[in-house]
Amino acid sequence: MTPTLAQLENIAALCDRRWDFFYTRSKLASDPVYQAVVREIGQSDLPVLDIGCGIGLLAHYLRTCGHTAPITGFDYDKRKITSAEEMVVKSGHQGLAFSAGDARTGLPDFDGHVVILDILQFFTPDEQNALLTAAAARVAPGGKLVIRTCLRDSSGRYKITVLGDYIAKFTFWMKDAPTAYPDAQQFNEVLSAAGLQVKISPLWGGTPFNNHLIVAQR
Ligand SMILES: C[S@@+](CC[C@H](N)C(=O)[O-])C[C@H]1O[C@@H](n2cnc3c(N)ncnc32)[C@H](O)[C@@H]1O
Repeated sequence: MTPTLAQLENIAALCDRRWDFFYTRSKLASDPVYQAVVREIGQSDLPVLDIGCGIGLLAHYLRTCGHTAPITGFDYDKRKITSAEEMVVKSGHQGLAFSAGDARTGLPDFDGHVVILDILQFFTPDEQNALLTAAAARVAPGGKLVIRTCLRDSSGRYKITVLGDYIAKFTFWMKDAPTAYPDAQQFNEVLSAAGLQVKISPLWGGTPFNNHLIVAQR
């Protein structure tokens, strides 16, 4: 299902901070990634681990679309984890848990679907490969690893994405500036070696960014 604007407003209304409210409202209405995740795992009963979950927008979007399996969010920004926990209390949703931690130094024990949206650019190539391998190890049989990232290539879209990530840093929305962007070959090599079947497709929506959806299935 696709949520109505009123349902997206309801998610935004869970935010206490003014900036989070406006960010959530426009992000959920304009970013195609949430609907893409619903298409991939929205009908499944397997639990979901959302690495770099931010304030937990994906969890609320999935619940709004009728998803009922447990969701664990993981992010190193304690401020965002606190906001995510406050939003869950307000929403009354069951089965949503959040914890703070750095994905460069380890992931929670887990078995299910794993989602990584827009965080790989903060990692070095070695850290990206380690995270992909650790995430793949947490994908259950029949489960999926769903990643949204900008791919490094020679396109104008790539340059615009890099600029956008620097703006996010200088407006203090992101703690860090981007470090490195992965290319398509990296996903094929690392995730195939981890035993997953990899599919990569553009996820541009109405945006100028060079975003792609990587779906790796066990
Ligand atoms: C662009 S935001 C995406 C938020 C969320 N995935 C979404 O799509 O709504 C990137 C998130 O990754 C988190 N992040 C970056 N590096 C991280 C790390 N090493 N460990 C855990 N979280 C990290 C940031 O705190 C931020 O919340």
